[in-house]
Amino acid sequence: MNLKPLFDLEAMPGNERHDNGFTGQDILSVSQFDKEKLSYIFERAREMRAVVKHASGVDLLKGHVLACLFYEPSTRTSSSFIAAMERLGGGVIPITQGVQFSSVSKGETLADTIRTLEQYADVIVLRHPEIGSAKAAASYASVPVINAGDGTGEHPTQSLLDLFTIQDELGRLEGLKVAMIGDLRYGRTVHSLTKLLLQYDVSLRFVSPEILRLPLAIMNQVIDAGVDVRETHEVADVIENADVLYVTRVQKERFTDLAQYEEVKEFYKITPEIMKRAKEKMVVMHPLPRVGEIHYTVDSDPRAAYFRQVQNGMYIRMALLAMVLGKA
Ligand code: NCD
Repeated sequence: MNLKPLFDLEAMPGNERHDNGFTGQDILSVSQFDKEKLSYIFERAREMRAVVKHASGVDLLKGHVLACLFYEPSTRTSSSFIAAMERLGGGVIPITQGVQFSSVSKGETLADTIRTLEQYADVIVLRHPEIGSAKAAASYASVPVINAGDGTGEHPTQSLLDLFTIQDELGRLEGLKVAMIGDLRYGRTVHSLTKLLLQYDVSLRFVSPEILRLPLAIMNQVIDAGVDVRETHEVADVIENADVLYVTRVQKERFTDLAQYEEVKEFYKITPEIMKRAKEKMVVMHPLPRVGEIHYTVDSDPRAAYFRQVQNGMYIRMALLAMVLGKA
């Protein structure tokens, strides 16, 4: 038999990687991003939006594979990573329908699961119920690991899309009054967004029931940063001045005492009545899912940005995937 080589490797473009400071890097915490890096990501995300609007997708990550490993439920984070990879021409191993269908249910450790997936994939996105799990996974893996939520710890890609949305909707990040409402104790998106916002000249208002106040460690970072900050139990105290109203769900799954959850679950509801008192130019955001904190009649208010925020998530994740793979 005449065995002719299938590929002429010399003639192929190869796997050149662009050195952008993110190539090969894990994305574990928002503490990795300074203002310059944030502007870079946002610029790339705007390019991704333009290419999706213009051509639906592009072959930038053709041949690359993403492993999406989710030990907790997800709709937006998992789907947007999958959509992001596919719109860039790459492929996905989706372990997002619950790890009960993977060998995790046979007792496989996180370390072994990660070491296995990196044999197939160029990048791993992980959501896991334990704080520090993404960092641990990154120590097992030689490919980049992206933290898609580590318990009540951080959710860095969500806060990148949150910050991008604020910039996009209001045209600036400096000088804003940001009010965060709801479960500030267990809500990881609040933790990450708060830390990111400390890089800007903002004032922060934290609105929660007593038992769901922002953790002390994060409050101390806020105080050390010297920003204007106040805590309250009442939406009424913040609604008139807020440029951003960041509403969150009470995280039922994090409560050890469900009676406590029952006490606070319906603490807040943003309604058209309340919105009458808000500024004309401001935004209402929510990482979603919502379970009643924003009445659905608010959705038609032009200031309700939560579904635009969802769409921005895909552009941010396209940018991040292309960047860690050295293609953007
Ligand atoms: C958030 C999360 O998982 O932390 N959802 C998301 O990723 N958009 C918020 C939540 O679950 O309440």
